[in-house]
Amino acid sequence: MEVFVNEKIGADDAGAVGTKEKPFKTPAYALFKVPEAKLIVAKETEQGEEYVDISPSALKKAKKGAESLKKKEEKARKQAEEAAAKDAEENAKMLEAMKITIVEDKSLPPAKKIKIMSIGKHIEERVKVQGWIHRLRLQKGLAFIVLRDGTGYVQCVLSGDLANAYQTLSLTIESTLSIYGTIRKLPEGKSAPGGVELAVDYYEVVGLAPSGKESFTNKIQEGTDPSILMDQRHLTLRGETLSAVMKVRAALLAAIRRVYIEESVTEVTPPCMVQTQVEGGSTLFKMDYYGEEAFLTQSSQLYLETCLPALGDVYCIQESFRAEKSHTRRHLSEYTHIEAELAFVTFDDLLSHIERVITKTVQYVLEDPTAGPLVKQLNPGFVAPQLPFKRMQYIEALDWLNENGIPNEDGEKFKFGDDIAEAAERKMTDTIGVPILLTRFPVEIKSFYMKKCVDDPRVTESVDVLMPTVGEITGGSMRIEDTQELLEGFKREGIDAKSYYWFVDQRIYGTCPHGGYGLGTERILAWLCNRFTVRDCSLYPRFTGRCKP
Ligand code: 4AD
Repeated sequence: MEVFVNEKIGADDAGAVGTKEKPFKTPAYALFKVPEAKLIVAKETEQGEEYVDISPSALKKAKKGAESLKKKEEKARKQAEEAAAKDAEENAKMLEAMKITIVEDKSLPPAKKIKIMSIGKHIEERVKVQGWIHRLRLQKGLAFIVLRDGTGYVQCVLSGDLANAYQTLSLTIESTLSIYGTIRKLPEGKSAPGGVELAVDYYEVVGLAPSGKESFTNKIQEGTDPSILMDQRHLTLRGETLSAVMKVRAALLAAIRRVYIEESVTEVTPPCMVQTQVEGGSTLFKMDYYGEEAFLTQSSQLYLETCLPALGDVYCIQESFRAEKSHTRRHLSEYTHIEAELAFVTFDDLLSHIERVITKTVQYVLEDPTAGPLVKQLNPGFVAPQLPFKRMQYIEALDWLNENGIPNEDGEKFKFGDDIAEAAERKMTDTIGVPILLTRFPVEIKSFYMKKCVDDPRVTESVDVLMPTVGEITGGSMRIEDTQELLEGFKREGIDAKSYYWFVDQRIYGTCPHGGYGLGTERILAWLCNRFTVRDCSLYPRFTGRCKP
């Protein structure tokens, strides 16, 4: 039987039958469809297109091709058969599963509602835990659920009818459950979070999360683009790493509050909407405040200073805002600023206070039963800082940088007055490898309020605390106490002093030597938890181009 093949107008699908009008596209496909065919192929000649008998070599090739198409077809058929059998088996299983109803055995002792963190205190007791399915493994006759309630994780084991029920077979990651069961210590050689597991006797589904395309694991996967992960921050927060950092963050804030209580420093809550600047106009977020110009605060320092006469030493934990144009790993547009202000102190007192607060805070975090192990997990090599910190003057840092061949921003040797930019600062800190109190910065690269050193008026009584891997985590200084000198500072910076009358009054109505500092919460966390960027240490980070979710 003659079968026609035409590479140009033919088709290798159901539309082709092998006639001149509806030829196949390839000889292999033609033979596959019509094994007994006599192949006639289209050929370009000078007279135009012509149909000729296939050449022996092309026929040999076509036979081979047809053979492999046949094999492929057989394989696909087998696979389809297997899938259909599996579906049937699955359907039968589901039908069986549907017959099982899960009911609570009312003869069991009443279950005590507990949080997962306290599970170790209830061994052999019947309890009720509620949370989200963190991990799920279904096996023949057994189901393993790792339940998460924010306070911890527990492995729950379902067996028999509970494991085989339709309700269990349709569970999905991130569904919420109320689980009832008895807490058992794990036998030797088995492992699960906390060394215990919950032998489940009954459970209820509170909220079933989607399966398939909309499933949680489809939404965020390892290796997903960071900006998509940021869009899904509300979901990524549920992950083990990010939630661990947030727990350390909570412990850090609690620890520093405890240290401030011990140091007799009182907490205040200054406003976030202000009409003054603290750290330069270029990073101010402007807003319209009932027709007046206002800003989101860059620092609560000025307000803290005004509290000294009323409350003594004060601190606040408040959001600060910086319109940072640069994309760096340590800059956010909004960050949690821990600031303190101390009255009647010397510069040395201030430095000792700062290193003490940092050291004690870290100590309390490490001693915390929740956060301590999480820091070890996130940052196994972490070494707690020791007192006293290394002290280094700005001028000494310049010498160190020049000796170590680290150039300034223009690619030249550092000279007095140069800013030590982020990269150079981090290189130096990482090489030295211990916390550094870097002091006495030049007047021109620091803020208007900083007090000049008596022995060298070119420099200020200022300090940056530098930590390995992050660099600057704290900036502080002694403040100008003299009204006239302060007003000159405003003038130098081109700031209209009128809006600052309340701040100037702090000097007029009983001045005193005082100083303070600001500590970036996300920066100290990046150091403590070994995170590459401060973005991983903020709940919903804000930075250039991102103000959602
Ligand atoms: O050095 P800064 O700008 O100092 C002040 O704002 C002072 N008024 C604080 C004071 O003396 N009360 O900021 C202090 C700290 C920095 O060391 C850094 O840890 C953090 O705040 N910080 C930032 N953290 C994240 N993103 C940013 N854009 C930050 N800017 C400063």
